[in-house]
Amino acid sequence: MTVVGLGADHAGFPLKEDLKAWLIGHGYDVVDLGTQSTESVDYPDYAAAVGSAVVAGKATCGVLVCGTGIGMAMAANKLVGVRAAACTDAFSARMSREHNDANILAMGARITAREAAIEILETWLGAKFQEGRHARRVDKIVALDRARGQETPDEQAR
Ligand code: RB5
Repeated sequence: MTVVGLGADHAGFPLKEDLKAWLIGHGYDVVDLGTQSTESVDYPDYAAAVGSAVVAGKATCGVLVCGTGIGMAMAANKLVGVRAAACTDAFSARMSREHNDANILAMGARITAREAAIEILETWLGAKFQEGRHARRVDKIVALDRARGQETPDEQAR
């Protein structure tokens, strides 16, 4: 069962609600980590919540929504083990999984409308990491976490 961790700031809240309804309607388990209104909040708090849930294995993957998707991706990528991709189209979303093994999708509610966001989300969830030469490259991203002197989630589990 795929568990999707969801997070948004005030700008992303309405789109998060649309995506949550779509996910539940399509049989996904959802962990909604907020925010729960359009009252102004700080996007890094929600990026951290979803990123932590993914790294800890409490969510299989994550979806973050802010105004542009950019701040959410920047913040989430500070967590060791997170590979967050800010996507504005389905091709980028598919590539972020197939080539980069992204574990968080970030989108911008001020850029991407509901129907396009659902297409991006559906494509992202349906795409699989292609391993092979891409695994060698993702291993090098993981090595950058190690270079920061921090254990990766895989190493912590050993
Ligand atoms: C909030 O106004 C906006 O800055 C935020 O949603 C996001 O777009 C940041 O990257």
